[in-house]
Amino acid sequence: MEYEIKNIALADAGAVRIEWDARQMPVLQSIRARFEQEQPFRGMRIGVCLHISTKTANLLLTVKAGGADLTVCASNPLSTQDDVAASLVKHHDIPMFAIRGEDMETFGWHLHRVLSERPMLLMDDGADLVTTAHTDFRAQLGDIIGATEETTTGVIRLNSMARQGELTFPVVAVNESDTKHLFDNRYGTGQSALDGIIRATNVLIAGRTVVVCGYGWCGRGVASRARGLGADVVVTEVNPIQALEAVMEGYRVMPMADAVRIGDLFVTVTGNRGVIRGEHLSVMKDGVILANAGHFDVEIDLVALRALATGVRPMRPSVEEYPLPDGRRLYVLGQGRLVNLVAGEGHPAGVMDLSFANQALAAEYLTVHHNRLGPGVHRLPREIDEHIAHLKLHSMGIGYDRLTDDQTAYLNSWKG
Ligand SMILES: NC(=O)c1ccc[n+]([C@@H]2O[C@H](COP(=O)([O-])OP(=O)(O)OC[C@H]3O[C@@H](n4cnc5c(N)ncnc54)[C@H](O)[C@@H]3O)[C@@H](O)[C@H]2O)c1
Repeated sequence: MEYEIKNIALADAGAVRIEWDARQMPVLQSIRARFEQEQPFRGMRIGVCLHISTKTANLLLTVKAGGADLTVCASNPLSTQDDVAASLVKHHDIPMFAIRGEDMETFGWHLHRVLSERPMLLMDDGADLVTTAHTDFRAQLGDIIGATEETTTGVIRLNSMARQGELTFPVVAVNESDTKHLFDNRYGTGQSALDGIIRATNVLIAGRTVVVCGYGWCGRGVASRARGLGADVVVTEVNPIQALEAVMEGYRVMPMADAVRIGDLFVTVTGNRGVIRGEHLSVMKDGVILANAGHFDVEIDLVALRALATGVRPMRPSVEEYPLPDGRRLYVLGQGRLVNLVAGEGHPAGVMDLSFANQALAAEYLTVHHNRLGPGVHRLPREIDEHIAHLKLHSMGIGYDRLTDDQTAYLNSWKG
């Protein structure tokens, strides 16, 4: 079996961490038990591009238990957990092409390596696998029955492909499920972005002015967790409805041009580029910390920062200091890449249980319904979304009410 990982000797350390997280993922475990029986992916080659973490390992084991033949690469060059990659190779015979810190050339080669196995189904996070298939592997597109997509940025890219008539197969946008974005993006990013920032810097959050750029699902989570730690939270937005929601939630909302004068810690979660630019960096306070939790490393303009700075100095793992000519110093975490995955361990397994239940069931849904779906971006049906929430509540020992027949009839009637 071919593979490219950091060090196979790390495998045993990875195995216990994968086992630890498995305990936090009861929904995925129940799906795995069913897949073992039903073998929905028997004989299928599945190409995977996800953050290589303990949680993803549990998803991969679930899909493999369903009979899939997997080839896997990383969806970010800095997020791979090398011990996890080693364990998946050594203990589970999964061909992995992922090394933490790989350069962009290797990252691209690993995407190609996965596609060269002629996968029939793709599981993607950020749409790099799907876009590479459509650019460099066009001859194989007819063999691909569909793909699943994990995150907001990937869905935005895929919608753009679909609008231009470029997308040749159905993609299930896992991010659109309520049991994904309401929980993973909000509570997952909220907790893990703060966790990554704290692990990297060990700064006190209480009393600091934290500027959250973007008040979408991730931004809501980051803002609420920063406030919970005692920060004075400022929000920047471009959407008036989101900005108003942030105001009513009790945060100060202002343009970035004003926020840059008062912020101590900036967290970008917009999925957009150039959110913090040269004109902002040049007026920030001394000691400001800059972190990004959006998918790509384009939210903070690091090219502009390098041009402004007199150099760059590593201070701690995942912290780089940029001195400016006037003596001020700015600090960038994780080279502007997803701070929760670069400086921390990503989302807690308890929330990825929901996201990856969606991934597993989306892959199964595509194998059954791909002909009917047709090219384009699709959601998982509402019943599957609700079923995942039901399984999670059940695993937590929490009951909830059901509509009586009379209530159902009332809700379906216009007569009052
Ligand atoms: N770190 C993680 O683990 C993680 C998890 C989930 C999603 N993501 C990524 O985080 C990003 C945000 O995801 P989301 O689900 O919150 O998206 P979202 O669409 O719900 O929210 C994004 C918000 O940013 C705002 N915005 C856009 N440009 C802006 C600008 N220039 N200034 C201020 N606000 C701006 C939008 O109006 C929107 O309200 C995406 O890139 C997504 O892929 C990361």
